[in-house]
Amino acid sequence: MKKCLLAASILSANFSCLGKEINDVIIAGVDIIHFDIMDNHYVPNLTIGPIVLKSLRDNGMKNIIDVHLMTKPVDNLIISCAKAGANYITFHPECSNHIDRSISLIKKYGCKVGLAFNPSTSLNYLDYVIDKLDLILIMSVNPGFEGQKFIPKIINKIIQTRNIINEKKKDVLLSIDGGINIKNINKIVNSGANILVLGSTIFKNILSSKEIIKQIKIKLDKIKNFC
Ligand code: DX5
Ligand code: ZN
Repeated sequence: MKKCLLAASILSANFSCLGKEINDVIIAGVDIIHFDIMDNHYVPNLTIGPIVLKSLRDNGMKNIIDVHLMTKPVDNLIISCAKAGANYITFHPECSNHIDRSISLIKKYGCKVGLAFNPSTSLNYLDYVIDKLDLILIMSVNPGFEGQKFIPKIINKIIQTRNIINEKKKDVLLSIDGGINIKNINKIVNSGANILVLGSTIFKNILSSKEIIKQIKIKLDKIKNFC
């Protein structure tokens, strides 16, 4: 049985003290820092970019960073995020003119590749590229904002994706992003997720990030059946 990993989406963090916010969640035990880059074009919001990523690395941050690129075009940012210190780079197929080329670019610059699927994006893309992926990101909200409600019918899409992975490429990670909270974790993990991305649940909770991460981990330890 694989362990389910926790990713903290820093979109919900307090940007006036980002370094400390990240340090706190790492000490509390998250496995991955999820770094949302938005361009006010592909999605109606604007966030941070490779400069901030590089400053985290320059400041000694060594943990795994998954850059979730919500930008169109995407290829130039793939290069600058790889140079700035990304481990995984995850992009949306709609953002690339040549998906296969963008995948190769990520690999060329030494990063692992993720492909992200919006709630209404077909999984058919997987037919052609699954063998080249390290991670599949299933969006359980429409991209652009933190704090949205989990779309219930995405549970079926997670199950469908898990089945495809088990049939075709067992070692690709299945990550779920958007609207995840302590109440819906069970269902999501039992549907086959390997990584849970949490933003507002971790950073905008009445509990401290340390306490909520502890509670989530206790809950995850009790879930027996996944993957
Ligand atoms: C949405 C982002 C998510 C978001 C998650 O476009 O990709 O990573 O920050 O935030 P919550 O967990 O609050 O939905
Ligand atoms: Zn994200």
